[in-house]
Amino acid sequence: VATFALVIAVLFTWLYTGAKVSTVGAVDFHNALAVPPLAQSTVEADGTRVFDLRMQTGETEFTPGTKTPTWGFNGSHLGPTLRAAKGEKVRVKVANALPEASSVHWHGMHLPAAMDGGPHQMVPAGGSWAPEWTVEQPASTLWYHPHPHGATESHVQRGLAGLFLLDDPQSAALPLPKTYGVDDIPVIVQDVSFDGAKFDHGHKLMRNVGFLGDRTMVNGTLDPYVTVQDELVRLRLLNASTARVYTFGFDDGREFRQIASDGGLLEAPHTTDRLRLSPGERAEIVVRIRPGERTVLRSHPLDASLDFWNQRFGGGDDSFDVMQLRGAPTLRPSAELPQTLAASTLPTGEDSVRGRFFELKMSGINGRKMDMSRVDETVTRGTTETWTLRNNDGMPHNFHVHDVQFRVLDINGAAPPPPLRGPKDTVFIPSGTTVRIALRFEGPADPNTPYMYHCHLLYHEDEGMMGQFTVLDPGRPTPAPNLPPTSG
Ligand code: C2O
Ligand code: CU
Repeated sequence: VATFALVIAVLFTWLYTGAKVSTVGAVDFHNALAVPPLAQSTVEADGTRVFDLRMQTGETEFTPGTKTPTWGFNGSHLGPTLRAAKGEKVRVKVANALPEASSVHWHGMHLPAAMDGGPHQMVPAGGSWAPEWTVEQPASTLWYHPHPHGATESHVQRGLAGLFLLDDPQSAALPLPKTYGVDDIPVIVQDVSFDGAKFDHGHKLMRNVGFLGDRTMVNGTLDPYVTVQDELVRLRLLNASTARVYTFGFDDGREFRQIASDGGLLEAPHTTDRLRLSPGERAEIVVRIRPGERTVLRSHPLDASLDFWNQRFGGGDDSFDVMQLRGAPTLRPSAELPQTLAASTLPTGEDSVRGRFFELKMSGINGRKMDMSRVDETVTRGTTETWTLRNNDGMPHNFHVHDVQFRVLDINGAAPPPPLRGPKDTVFIPSGTTVRIALRFEGPADPNTPYMYHCHLLYHEDEGMMGQFTVLDPGRPTPAPNLPPTSG
């Protein structure tokens, strides 16, 4: 009996902890990094910039001679990089050529709720949708991905994700690396597993954080290297993985400078050797490269205070070699980075009219699972609020709010570190952590169309770790919203 109990205990521990994954030193970087093409657009007489996105099925050769069934926008996997400037009106004509309904959400974008592409703006198989809005926010690295309720993880994992870059005159005037694909390079990081030629999307080993792959790819390239021609290279990092948290750094420990967070430039470059991104978060960094050298962008294990991965999943070994940078034999000189980047326009919270509290659990937010027909919170257009987000759930979560870029006020009562002082739409919240954020809701008001807030670990989101809020005009009594009944 004792032996049997021991076997069960060992088996359970093994199942629950999962296999250790580390690709450090084990990756042969032999594939030139793919850079997503800039999307074509046309400009109409009234100045509206029009893009076409077609969601489609296809096959992708991640390894020569092996075809993996994938989904993509305007291609077999991932999507083109959309790019627009502050003040521009944009329209995206979305066509759904998938065998099932989906949606396209503009993650990080301030826009009317009906254009948001969340679970209330589904595009049926064979159908189309053409949201339009005016860009009213600073230069930033945003992204787009499907948001069908209950199926976001699988749609993103099959390959539906792309970048949406915004420009503004202030950032254009700064001496930053800005030649797309040359010294300003998108780095879309996803973890994957293969089962023969196919993606393996299984939640192996009872990993209830969701899917954790055993290797990484960048922009859909496995084992990628990129040749750098300039002294300074800007990397626009997006964690487009569904559950994995990365702590980026370089194999030789070199320092780099973070210049932007989710929703735009920091006030000043922040020098560091580590940068953590949870799913959905972005950061822009600038790295100095020497002629002829090779260095590897690596994800280090989370630090010991964030012991979830260390204790349960990684044993300290959850570390990945992500991409190799190769300096060309001679490099073009780059301008020095400016001392200051952009003045913050984030709410300070001093004018907060209301506080709200959110208890984050995998079983739901504030004890409730997502219900498409229920509006959880109503906010007033033109006001600032302070939200308190608490995770005591014994597993990592993060928190993403649609429509806004918020300020992180404090983390367990302490001022946020520099990387979290810029514009944020998603914030990592490990267990045992309380984060306070200040958000300003600019509207427009729409009592019948909610925005979402949710954990961006996509399995959690799909399982119902999501809620809805509407923006109402000031002075209006709260109307009963007219939402469709939940379908699932
Ligand atoms: Cu990136 Cu509600 O999602
Ligand atoms: Cu979560």
